[in-house]
Amino acid sequence: MRAVHAEGTGGPEVLSVREVPDVQPGPGEVAIEVVATAVNRADTLQRQGLYPPPPGASDVIGLECSGRIASLGEGVEGWSVGDEVCALLAGGGYASRVVVPAGQVMPVPDGIDLVSAAALPEVACTVWSNVYMVAGLRPDETFLVHGGAGGIGTFAIQLVSALGSRVLTTGGTPEKRAFCADLGAAVTIDYREEDFVEVAQREEAGGVDVILDNMGAAYLGRNVKALATEGRLVIIGMQGGIKGELNIAALLNKRAAVIATSLRGRPEAGKAAICAAVVEHVWPLVAAGAVRPIIDRVLPLEEVAEAHRVMGEGSHTGKILLTL
Ligand SMILES: NC(=O)c1ccc[n+]([C@@H]2O[C@H](COP(=O)([O-])OP(=O)(O)OC[C@H]3O[C@@H](n4cnc5c(N)ncnc54)[C@H](OP(=O)(O)O)[C@@H]3O)[C@@H](O)[C@H]2O)c1
Repeated sequence: MRAVHAEGTGGPEVLSVREVPDVQPGPGEVAIEVVATAVNRADTLQRQGLYPPPPGASDVIGLECSGRIASLGEGVEGWSVGDEVCALLAGGGYASRVVVPAGQVMPVPDGIDLVSAAALPEVACTVWSNVYMVAGLRPDETFLVHGGAGGIGTFAIQLVSALGSRVLTTGGTPEKRAFCADLGAAVTIDYREEDFVEVAQREEAGGVDVILDNMGAAYLGRNVKALATEGRLVIIGMQGGIKGELNIAALLNKRAAVIATSLRGRPEAGKAAICAAVVEHVWPLVAAGAVRPIIDRVLPLEEVAEAHRVMGEGSHTGKILLTL
């Protein structure tokens, strides 16, 4: 099989495609012949040596894929060889074949082609689990997602709007903010020139109910200020640093919550529960066209270094896919 090899750690140039020994499914696992995979920000951190794979995971980069089932490990039921699927991975996606616990394999939503399906597992599982399972957003509540034009942001805007909540988002260029508005964001904020706290408080008297944050330390204080009474801040990224100062009095007065989560490090059973919830609650909205995969570009796996360069530069809107 072919897989992306990282020659040490460093810039995108350390990545290249090589022949490697085939992987075989163990008990409870499924082997997938990969048709497409997607680039995640975490992949660029892993390449730099800043985000090692969890114990037991493949050291090949890649957190999601789409493809066809190639073989089934002992005890796997409900899937057949040849089924078209997409999957949430702990690693190994940048390869022509990957093995994954059966609970993390999902059908391709109706109406979605097999390549585009690779754009869905990470964003659908991250947004559904954090916004609905963890933060419990209700349709009558308001929602702010930072970085609305990114992979997570483009999915969150569509899903949360489709489920009835009013969406605010931040974006770095007028083009990206216009794209977010087209996806359903009611309010778009220029994070370079505007104060999102001031805009959120002006637009939503009292602040927003749930914030999905990618910035970590840099936005911690301002996110707490932007929360409404009983608001929930869910931090999923650390693009703005890892250590911040929390104003406990502000949290206490609002009876607000700050939560941080990582999808990759969750136990298998937790990931399986999230995948099952996504298939139940999110796939019907994708099949109905209310939520669609937003794809910036599709490159062959051999151009993995270019794909990482584009993500590092941050000019993309939505997901960057790699095909085999
Ligand atoms: N914890 C988890 O389980 C989990 C799972 C998946 C993803 N994540 C994290 O979620 C974040 C987004 O992932 P992604 O795949 O969507 O990456 P992405 O496509 O590269 O998006 C990154 C976003 O960050 C935005 N951004 C940059 N500087 C900003 C600032 N100062 N204020 C507000 N937004 C800013 C960018 O906005 P512009 O393009 O407008 O500049 C862009 O939309 C990453 O930090 C990733 O690591 C976490």
